[in-house]
Amino acid sequence: MKKIIFFIFIIAIIASATRASAQKFQGLALTPPMGWNSWNTFACNVDEVLIREAADAIVASGMKESGYQYVVLDDCWEAMARDNAGNLVADLNKFPSGMKVLGDYIHSKGLKFGIHNCAGTKTCAGYPGGRGHEFQDALLYASWGVDFLKYDWCSHGTANSEETYKTMRDALHTAGRPIVFSICEWGDTKPWEWGKDVGHLWRITGDITDCFDCEVNHGSWSSWGIIKTIELRKGIRQYSGPDHWNDPDMMEIGRGMSQSEDRAHFSMWAMLAAPLIAGNDVRSMKKEIADILTNKDVIAIDQDSLGVQALKYTDNENGVEVWVKPLKNDDWAVCFLNKSEQKQKIDFDWSKHYIADDVSNKILDTKGIQFGIRDLWSKKNLGDTKKRLTAEVASHDVLMVRLIKQ
Ligand code: GLA
Repeated sequence: MKKIIFFIFIIAIIASATRASAQKFQGLALTPPMGWNSWNTFACNVDEVLIREAADAIVASGMKESGYQYVVLDDCWEAMARDNAGNLVADLNKFPSGMKVLGDYIHSKGLKFGIHNCAGTKTCAGYPGGRGHEFQDALLYASWGVDFLKYDWCSHGTANSEETYKTMRDALHTAGRPIVFSICEWGDTKPWEWGKDVGHLWRITGDITDCFDCEVNHGSWSSWGIIKTIELRKGIRQYSGPDHWNDPDMMEIGRGMSQSEDRAHFSMWAMLAAPLIAGNDVRSMKKEIADILTNKDVIAIDQDSLGVQALKYTDNENGVEVWVKPLKNDDWAVCFLNKSEQKQKIDFDWSKHYIADDVSNKILDTKGIQFGIRDLWSKKNLGDTKKRLTAEVASHDVLMVRLIKQ
């Protein structure tokens, strides 16, 4: 009898330990994560000098003060093979000081350390992936002081995505260091349907590219410009929220689009409550670019604690779309996005619009509540919602306002 009780006791302990690790770290991304990632500009040309300089620039440019936190080293940091004990190793030509030292440097700047790997056997650039090594890798990342893991989906073979990402989630949790878990399977297996308990953000599209509205065909997949990235996934805004975000990919601001296109891109990422991960060379960016990336009023829309992704209210009148995002304290953000090739006139009579959002259960009805209107780019007050809003919006630009409850 004693033996049976002992046996049941052991099983109960194992079961509770398994339960304890079968969860993600809670509360690490109550607002969309903000940071910088090496991939869009540098691809495989990464080394420790670059990452340290990027961290320095994030501080010097005011990005850190505006909320950017994670310095994410994407693909190509590894040596081509694991060591004899099966551990991942950094490429010592690129990272001679090693990853722990790099993490320490990033932390010494008051920033957080992000790294990339892949749920498949190889990363997309052909370096060792995590498959079959999840628990070992998670311990290594924890020992390096990693705070954010972007986990890709190349070379996954016949693996089931949900199960594979859950394995890594459990590994991270077991290793014990709180790490934001960024699922990067491009929306292939609808991560919004299963990702909430697995990661803190999930990519919803393939790789973005630096054009306003184009598609670059790579054969089996396409990369998308800003507008196509926004348009590709419809009907998934209800899946995004505090600690579990739809991720339309890293930003292309400061990488060749016009200033108005960059502004429109940033505005829309904020409306979508997207993770704000810059992808430009922050070391050499012009002031106009830093000004866009650090617009605190726009960032406040992205980081609003209600965490509701905007809804598209009107579609394409003369190429202009109206997007609305409910905010805490009954404020709203409204973004007039001019996708057309010409400037367009806006003439918006608030009293004629009653907007009911069935995701947040918020209603924008200016007959009930009056709002002051603040232009988040010109920083001017534009009166209130008692009178119609008239303005001109340049091609590929936005008028983005905050309605402030009075
Ligand atoms: C995939 C991801 C990109 C980047 C590359 C690295 O394509 O979607 O964001 O991480 O892999 O190889």
